[in-house]
Amino acid sequence: MNQPERILVTAALPYANGPIHLGHLAGAYLPADIYVRYQRLKQRRVLFVCGSDEHGVPITITADKEKVSPQTIVDRYHAMNALAFERFGMSFDNYSRTSLPLHHTTAREFFADLHKRGILREKIEQQFYDEKAAMFLPDRYVEGTCPVCSFAEARGDQCERCGSYLNPLELISPKSKITGETPAVRETGHWYFPLGEFQARLESYVRERDARDGWKDNVLNYCKGWFSTGLQDRPVTRDLDWGVKVPLAGYDRKVLYVWFDAVLGYISSAKEWSLRNGTPDLWKEFWQSESTKYVAFIGKDNVVFHCIVFPAMLMAWNDGHPEGNYVLPENVPANEFLNFEGEKFSKSRGWGIDVQDFLDRYPADSLRYYLAVSMPEYRDSDFTWHEFQAKTNNELADILGNFVNRTIAFTERAFGGLVPARGAIGDFDRVILDILASTPERAGEAYDHYRFKDGLLDVMNLARAANKYFNDSEPWKSVKDDPARCATTLSVSLQVVRALAVLMEPVTPFTSEKIWRMLDLPGSVHDQSWDGCASEQMPDGHAIGKPQILVTKIEDSAIEEELRRLPRDEAAPAVPQKPPVSIDDFGKIDLRIGTVITADPVPKSSKLLKLQVDVGSERRQVVAGIAQHYRPEDLVGKSIVVVYNMQPAKLMGQESRGMLLAASDASGKLVILTPEKEIGSGSVVK
Ligand code: MF3
Ligand code: ZN
Repeated sequence: MNQPERILVTAALPYANGPIHLGHLAGAYLPADIYVRYQRLKQRRVLFVCGSDEHGVPITITADKEKVSPQTIVDRYHAMNALAFERFGMSFDNYSRTSLPLHHTTAREFFADLHKRGILREKIEQQFYDEKAAMFLPDRYVEGTCPVCSFAEARGDQCERCGSYLNPLELISPKSKITGETPAVRETGHWYFPLGEFQARLESYVRERDARDGWKDNVLNYCKGWFSTGLQDRPVTRDLDWGVKVPLAGYDRKVLYVWFDAVLGYISSAKEWSLRNGTPDLWKEFWQSESTKYVAFIGKDNVVFHCIVFPAMLMAWNDGHPEGNYVLPENVPANEFLNFEGEKFSKSRGWGIDVQDFLDRYPADSLRYYLAVSMPEYRDSDFTWHEFQAKTNNELADILGNFVNRTIAFTERAFGGLVPARGAIGDFDRVILDILASTPERAGEAYDHYRFKDGLLDVMNLARAANKYFNDSEPWKSVKDDPARCATTLSVSLQVVRALAVLMEPVTPFTSEKIWRMLDLPGSVHDQSWDGCASEQMPDGHAIGKPQILVTKIEDSAIEEELRRLPRDEAAPAVPQKPPVSIDDFGKIDLRIGTVITADPVPKSSKLLKLQVDVGSERRQVVAGIAQHYRPEDLVGKSIVVVYNMQPAKLMGQESRGMLLAASDASGKLVILTPEKEIGSGSVVK
């Protein structure tokens, strides 16, 4: 894309189901904010929107658990996250929420249009129904035993123990989470978006945008993975009463699937921004213009929605609306994940730190700087308290803070706080002025291509060079024996300080504003020119303000305190021991050796395999959740251990008589158990 007239930037709408954490900030929000602030300094027209994602089953489940309404939950976390973002310095033009009527209307219109134009398909399918609650159960409202690892509390959509994605109908002993009853299976209708039909167009879309704007390898790889498995129809409706009501007769107890409405939240947030500004149609200048560049910032878990699903939805809309085509993402620079002290953030384990607690104890810019230098741009990275301290003290304070402070303090002492007029430019001056002159373009090139660490490194290298320049110039000597030289050194240094305030603004906006005030310059640092800042000198004779501490160093004791706060794992086994059983209890289980005669996939199931097993006296069909771990052909002839007196069960319509034994670990790895030496089928295991 040539230099676009406008840039539309979105950052993933966080679920209003809990507080955002540092991983979210490093993954999507900080890079988006650096990009936007940089583009504004480039004086480009930017619209930056976000908002809370307030629908979906996790929210209703949290509400049920707390015995409050879903609205109470989303009100709480919307307010909390909006405040956390503000304190972190996010410069959204609008932070909206998907529970707004404006959003509901937008999403309903979008659905109704695709429906009216015959793009969506209705499918009648079997689904669990809770007779007592008189409702169909969305997948997460069903729990039961995982067919893959036998974990007793697997959720209908996914097993938390082994990570397998599940269809609720595959669960063994399913239970409704609402009433605890065994649900019945009934037929119901759902609408689907035919994603598969868009595959060819999506593949060329990704190829073309990559060629134009350079997509990240990690993002391209996720897309390739999805394309190679083949895109499937995706349901766009769900059985729930929290969400955007489906605008169709007979669908009054169903809502739009959260992923369908959430991505449209980017559009309704822009609409809300337009309305607030008294120009209700202004959003179209960004969303419906060919000269807009749209960049969607997300974490890696959202790639499929932003690179595949959302573009396909927009294509489907655009096909029927030549008068108002939506712009598709030009790029989706997703980051990988940030861990915390070597492990995943976990709310339930208390692993991590609340963003607002963090900001109560440390300035936002220290966090922004550290997250920017350690951002998971290409691979997962790790937050550690020691590194946070080191980056704050050794870089932000000792490099940037030190240069700014020594320059301002020296000007105050030697020149009464007045910017001295410069004399002849010497060799040292020329070197630093050259570095200064080339930095905006080099760092900007990196930022324009979503290489945020590189861009920041370029700017910090200017600050490093500036410290060296100050040292080498020795103004404390020249002030006595060559005042004109000293004046030049300080004039040049002040020019660099001014430029650094502008160039650091995308990463450390609060610190930059502080520098701006210390220099007592007019206006705001946020409105300066990226390109112009290198050549802009401080006016001769201008009175600068008083030096103040720019960056507070973090004491060792504070870091020790933070480390003490971390929950320490007692060496508890990851899987808790079940209650003890007697030998008699154990004896009730009849285990036999069996030999696999045939193994076949189960239609429509990605997890189950159907085995014919010779158990000595007879042949039995055993259905096992091992399809993600074994190819059918590798099982034939294997000896296995079978629970011979397992109650017969039906899994995905297939009779299963017996269960095979397998071992799984926390990573989801699964292996079946086989006897150590050959022994005949039907042998008893004890
Ligand atoms: N709420 C989702 C999450 O936090 C992100 C949704 S992005 C959107 O993972 F585009 F769908 F809004
Ligand atoms: Zn499992």
